[in-house]
Amino acid sequence: MKAAVIYAYGGPEVFRYEEIPRPDIKDDEVLVEVHAASVNPVDWKQRKGNHKFFLKARFPIIPGYDISGRIIKCGANVRKFSEGDQVFCRLTKRFGGAFAEYAAARESTLSLKPDNMDHIHAAAIPMAGQTALQALRDKGRIKPGQKILIIGAAGGVGHYALQLSRFFGAETTAVCSSRHEKLLALLKPDHHIDYHKKDYLKGDIRYDIILDAAGVKTFLSCKRALKPGGIYITVLPRPKLLVHKLIAILTKGKKVRSLLQKSRGSDLEILRKMAEKGNLISVIDSIHSLDKISEAHRRAESHSTEGKIIIKVK
Ligand SMILES: NC(=O)c1ccc[n+]([C@@H]2O[C@H](COP(=O)([O-])OP(=O)(O)OC[C@H]3O[C@@H](n4cnc5c(N)ncnc54)[C@H](OP(=O)(O)O)[C@@H]3O)[C@@H](O)[C@H]2O)c1
Repeated sequence: MKAAVIYAYGGPEVFRYEEIPRPDIKDDEVLVEVHAASVNPVDWKQRKGNHKFFLKARFPIIPGYDISGRIIKCGANVRKFSEGDQVFCRLTKRFGGAFAEYAAARESTLSLKPDNMDHIHAAAIPMAGQTALQALRDKGRIKPGQKILIIGAAGGVGHYALQLSRFFGAETTAVCSSRHEKLLALLKPDHHIDYHKKDYLKGDIRYDIILDAAGVKTFLSCKRALKPGGIYITVLPRPKLLVHKLIAILTKGKKVRSLLQKSRGSDLEILRKMAEKGNLISVIDSIHSLDKISEAHRRAESHSTEGKIIIKVK
């Protein structure tokens, strides 16, 4: 199969587009013919070697975690899916393996692809959509009528969080540059603040949840803008420190939560159903072919994307 492979950490140019053997599958896995994959910030952070001290790579590796495609082979213990099923998922192997013509995926992480989405739009969802869902539902315990502030609302995670926040009945404020007018017109948040023009943490409004989907703020900088009991959620994994508990006591029960996305077929099912009912769409920043993955990574590292970057494989 053709794959985008790296043999060393480095810039976007380290990718080699080459022929390698298809992956083997275990009994609880399926082999997916990948039609589309999407790029997440973790892909280029790993490619650069940012995580090399706690996530040692044995080169060569195929990066990438999000795929949408068709099952062509099922392991002996796979029960819920069959050959020919159109599925999407976030891969759980250490370095993923999405940027290839075939990928091995665990059954427990899979869902059928939304009927009304092509593979390009479905491949956008798994990591960013599950992060947004798990942040608001599990870490934030979001409720109807609450005031939610989403920082980085035009990014992969942020644009799904905007839609989920509305789905959960919350009043949502999107923080992103005004140049994302197309995305804002599509997703229609209740309020929009351009962070280049206004400091959204100053002023009188207090939020029940601040979701920092861009990883650009800290709990301490946000706590004034939280209601008593309000929750600041960051997508940057931070250890659960005792100091967070202490801060919570000192700040009238305001809380800080960090999130590490978990890959669950059941959560993807929720997102699939939302998409099929017209409650979730994927905004696509750009589409690149597998042999042009370097240009996709360059774009991803610009920090200014609108929605998701897609690798069209088939
Ligand atoms: N914890 C987890 O399990 C998990 C899972 C997925 C992602 N993440 C992390 O979540 C972060 C976001 O991921 P993503 O996929 O959404 O990334 P992304 O799509 O690359 O985010 C790009 C967006 O960030 C926005 N942005 C950049 N600087 C900003 C600022 N100062 N204020 C507000 N928005 C700003 C940009 O909007 P403008 O053009 O308006 O600046 C752009 O739309 C990354 O750090 C990623 O590693 C964590």
